[in-house]
Amino acid sequence: MIAIPPIAADRLPALLRAMPKAELHMHIEGSLEPELIFALAQRNGVALPYASVDALRQAYAFTNLQSFLDIYYAGASVLLKEQDFYDMAWAYLLRAQADHVLHTEMFFDPQTHTARGVSMATVVNGLHRACMDARTQLGVSASLILCFLRHLSEEEAFETLEQALPHRDQFIGVGLDSSEVGHPPEKFARVFARCRELGFHLVAHAGEEGPPAYVWTALDLLKVERIDHGVQSTRDPALMRRLAQDRIPLTVCPLSNLKLCVFPSLSEHNLGALLDAGLAATVNSDDPAYFGGYLNENFTQTFAATGLGAQHAYQLARNSFEAAFVDAGARRAWLDQVDACFAAAA
Ligand code: ADE
Ligand code: ZN
Repeated sequence: MIAIPPIAADRLPALLRAMPKAELHMHIEGSLEPELIFALAQRNGVALPYASVDALRQAYAFTNLQSFLDIYYAGASVLLKEQDFYDMAWAYLLRAQADHVLHTEMFFDPQTHTARGVSMATVVNGLHRACMDARTQLGVSASLILCFLRHLSEEEAFETLEQALPHRDQFIGVGLDSSEVGHPPEKFARVFARCRELGFHLVAHAGEEGPPAYVWTALDLLKVERIDHGVQSTRDPALMRRLAQDRIPLTVCPLSNLKLCVFPSLSEHNLGALLDAGLAATVNSDDPAYFGGYLNENFTQTFAATGLGAQHAYQLARNSFEAAFVDAGARRAWLDQVDACFAAAA
């Protein structure tokens, strides 16, 4: 840790863009831009219920999580071949490199694809090949986290895990996403216990729209290492103390929360409150093609709206690497790069 002197407000956006960072909460299917959806639809002969790229983009007016998920799953229907998954991931990884993302952990939703007859191998091999190429060609470290869809059954999650096990060296962890309310973490306690035995890292979406109780059960029953979103935690002081004491990372996604009406405006977002309460919050893009911005947009728009400063930026950059599932040597090297960046900006 280094002391950060105040930095003039007009220099902050450039610092936010340039600082080294990790992205820990990004659904790769949520990086599918409308242009790529149309290109893949044409390549694969898939009919879309939208006449044009503009018509599709105009449908991106969400009122809550479910209104988004309906369109997000429809968009993913153009993905059929291994190369489609590669091309989608590669497009995101180029954006990540441009945003000075040194490390990214990308969520993928295999059940969205296997339900359409696409094999697990097609999905994982395409995504994993893009991760390998990002390392060698872009200098971006990238790994994969398999998410179970919580609106589906425990049995279907177990089947998905079975299908994924031949690929166990190609992903580092498992997560839980999709429609939160009515599908509490405990529904998947046995699946997560099995994944824990298998040595996977564990994360879960909790407290995005759902209550603080879901964050408690994600921690205590699923035994997750990070909470995805978790912004509802501020409603429960005892939970806030637990998250701060145990330094449980929260992967917060401000533009997602804005677009899905979790907060009425960005200026009312509680990122600053989470940080000031000593929580290990991070900033992430969630589904950047749908929510109006990649990682640097999330940083610059949130800082502009909430008045957060250089000390918060430094903390967020550090938190992102502290919370990453990487070895101690890589973490140390990246934290040193964060320190060097802020020392040079002072
Ligand atoms: N899948 C993609 N984005 C999601 C989100 N924000 N919450 C839950 N599931 C998701
Ligand atoms: Zn998410």
